[in-house]
Amino acid sequence: MRVLELYSGIGGMHCAVKECGISYEIIAAIDVNTTANKIYKHNFPESNLMDCGIESLSATQLDEMKIDMIVMSPPCQPFTRVGKKLDAEDIRTKSFLHLLSLLPRLNNCPKYILVENVKGFEDSETCLKLRETLMKCNFTYQEFLLTPLQFGIPNSRLRYYLIAKRSPLKFSFANTTEIMTSLPSINSEENSSSTNATNISQPSTACISDESTRTNDHCKNSSHISSSHHMQSSPAKPAKKKETQHGMLGKSINNSDATDKKSPDIPAATCPICRESCLQSAGYNMRQLSEGEEEEDKYLCRLVQDFLEDQPPEYFQPFMLTRKDLKRFIVMDIVFPCLQKTTCFTKRYGHFMEGAGSIFQMSHSISEMTAASELKDRTLELKNRDQWSDEDYQVLSRLRLRYFTPREIANFLCFPATYNFPQDLSKIQLYRTLGNSLNVRVVSKLIQLMVKEQTSHVQV
Ligand SMILES: C[S@@+](CC[C@H](N)C(=O)[O-])C[C@H]1O[C@@H](n2cnc3c(N)ncnc32)[C@H](O)[C@@H]1O
Repeated sequence: MRVLELYSGIGGMHCAVKECGISYEIIAAIDVNTTANKIYKHNFPESNLMDCGIESLSATQLDEMKIDMIVMSPPCQPFTRVGKKLDAEDIRTKSFLHLLSLLPRLNNCPKYILVENVKGFEDSETCLKLRETLMKCNFTYQEFLLTPLQFGIPNSRLRYYLIAKRSPLKFSFANTTEIMTSLPSINSEENSSSTNATNISQPSTACISDESTRTNDHCKNSSHISSSHHMQSSPAKPAKKKETQHGMLGKSINNSDATDKKSPDIPAATCPICRESCLQSAGYNMRQLSEGEEEEDKYLCRLVQDFLEDQPPEYFQPFMLTRKDLKRFIVMDIVFPCLQKTTCFTKRYGHFMEGAGSIFQMSHSISEMTAASELKDRTLELKNRDQWSDEDYQVLSRLRLRYFTPREIANFLCFPATYNFPQDLSKIQLYRTLGNSLNVRVVSKLIQLMVKEQTSHVQV
C-alpha cells in the first residue's frame, strides 16, 4: 500500500497505518511546521518528509507518486466550534481545496482516502465540497463521529472521520449517508477472509484490547504504554495494593454486581467503583458538564493510572502547577489515577487552563481534597480568587497538582512506546504539536475498516 500522508504533523497517521497491520510504504509525508517536522523526522528518519505547502502540489507530481491511499488531517481552525468558522473563506482551507481540485484530474487516483477533522467539519461547505469531489471521482464513503472513550481509552477527543474507497472496491459493511457514531462490527469470519490489504492482523503493539475495554483489565504485557501503572510520588506500597483491587473491582463491573463489592480498606477517593463518591469528596472536580459530555460518561474505560509515566517524584517537578496556574483552580478538570476519563488535550495545554486538557492530582488525601473543595465553595461565593491567602494557596499546593507529561499525553493518544521526542524541544512545543495530533488507535481501526474488502458469499 503506497501511502501519502498529508498535513503529517508529528506522524499520528503514520503510527496508525503502522499499527493497523497492513503492508505499507509512506511515499511522502508533507507538512510546513518546522517543530512537527523535526519530531516526525526524529521518529521516522527514513521517511520522505517534504517541508512544503500542499497548495504547491501538482497533479503530475501526485500521479508520479502512484499513491494507493491518502491519509490526512487538514487544519481544523476554520471549523472549530470556538473559532470564527470561516470555513472555505479561511486561508488555512486553501491547500485542502487545492487538493480537492487535483483529485478529478489524476490519472492515478488513489483507491483509499481517510480524512480526520474536528466535530463541526461535517456541517461546513468544505465538507460538502469533499463529498462532491469524492462522488465525482467514483468513491463511496462513510463518515463518523468517534471518541477514544468508545475504544476504552480514558480521553475525550470527539472527531470527524471520513473513509472513502474508489469503485469497484466496496466496503465490507453497509455504508450510509448518515454519520455513524460507532464502528460497524466486522465479524471474525469475514476478518479472516480475503481483504484488499495484505494480512490485517491485530496490532502487535496493542495495549488496549477490545476485551480489556470491557473488563478494565490492566494490560501488563503491553509494550505500547511505556509508562506504568502507578505514580512513584505517591506512597509506593498502597499504590501496589490499589492495582490489585482495581483489577478485581474492574472485573466485577462487568458482572454488574459491583457496587457493594468495595473492600472496606480502600479509601473512597481511589476506587473506580465508587467514582461518584470519589468525585463528591473532591467537590472541586464537580464541573458542570457541557452538552454532550453526559453522554461520554457512559463509556467504561481503562484507568488513568495505566497511562502514567513510572518515574521518580523529581522527574515530575517541571510539570508541577505554579502559583499562577493555581489561580485557575476553579476551571481545572482535575483527575486522579482511578478515574476513567480525561478531557481533550489541546495545543493550548500547558499555558492555558480552561478547556485545554485535564490536570493530574498526585495527592490521595481525602482531607486535603475536602479542604480544597471548601476553598472552591468559598471562592465561588466570593467570586474573587484574589482574596486567597497564603494558607489558601497551601491548601491547593498540598494537592500536588501537575500537568500530564508529553509522554503521558502520547500514551492517551495511543502513540507506541517506541515513539519519542527530540531532547531539544520545549514542553510547550511538545504540548502544541501533540494537541494538534490524533488518536492513533481510533485511526488505525478506521484504516482496517476502510481497506477490508467486501466478501462475496458463495452459495453451496
Ligand atoms: C491537525 S494538524 C495534523 C496533525 C497530524 N495528523 C499529526 O498527527 O500530528 C494539521 C497540520 O497541517 C499542517 N499544515 C497546515 N497548513 C499546511 C499547508 N498548507 N501545507 C502543509 N501543511 C500544512 C500544520 O503544520 C499541522 O501540522
